[in-house]
Amino acid sequence: MTTTEAGAALAGANATDSARAGLSNLRGQGTGQADPARVSAVVGAALEGIRAAIRDNKVTYEEFDAFKQWLIAVSDTGEWPLFLDVYLEFEVEKVAAQTQQGSVGTILGPFWLDGQAQLTTPATLPMRDDEPGTPMILAGQVTDTDGTPLRGATVDIWHTDDEGWYSGFASKPPAGNLRGVVACDDEGRFEIHTRKPAPYTIPLDGPTGQMTQAAGWSPWRPAHIHLLVAAPGHRTLTSQLFFTGDPYLGNDVASADKPELTLDPQPTGNGDEVRSDRDFVLEPGQD
Ligand code: DHB
Ligand code: FE
Repeated sequence: MTTTEAGAALAGANATDSARAGLSNLRGQGTGQADPARVSAVVGAALEGIRAAIRDNKVTYEEFDAFKQWLIAVSDTGEWPLFLDVYLEFEVEKVAAQTQQGSVGTILGPFWLDGQAQLTTPATLPMRDDEPGTPMILAGQVTDTDGTPLRGATVDIWHTDDEGWYSGFASKPPAGNLRGVVACDDEGRFEIHTRKPAPYTIPLDGPTGQMTQAAGWSPWRPAHIHLLVAAPGHRTLTSQLFFTGDPYLGNDVASADKPELTLDPQPTGNGDEVRSDRDFVLEPGQD
């Protein structure tokens, strides 16, 4: 981000709205049945982790009260999705990845939006007439784990603009900017024209960013493109793609970058346009 605005208030509140509205559609709602043994194991371990931090660091009442105030601020600003997706989601994703075949995935993050532009390959993402940034083509093919091209595949794609802003979560880009769901051809092939995204800092004026800076940690995420790659009868792949040479690779505040997910876009010869080719492999299973 190169400018400041009411980042936390807008990004936090909108991420909370989006989490309420969208996530239950995206990943299902579970059974709604709480298994006491599971609750006791997971919640018990989480609480014991915090109690150990208190004991080991001799946490004072002053610090305990500051912690309460901070938790209240996370709620007031709607930053729970931001905080959870930065500091915890990558561990959940690692657990999920243990049973996932096919392409490597990573976290969803808080900024996916349902109901974006439905496009057909070759597609140009919705953007402003003078959309800044390097023109970029992302192209590839979606196949099954046995190499069969997947008919009916879609690539849901979203990323920041050239200044690090997400449409729907910052006031600058218009609604729907640099987001879309691209229908592949009958062989699972896609070609998406967009702009290269920029590195992003989590909102610095909210409690998640303040805690990050209070700890002396970097608030940056390397530039990345988010993807949901889906096909009928196959497990949806949630992933992100990063860029070789990005100064924040290996020091991602959300711990979501992986070496397998790095692109090295090459000039196409058409002005300053660049292109990367990347195929995706989906395993058979629930959509
Ligand atoms: C956050 C932002 C992202 O772009 C992302 O992919 C994950 C988390 C955040 O601000 O919480
Ligand atoms: Fe992101």
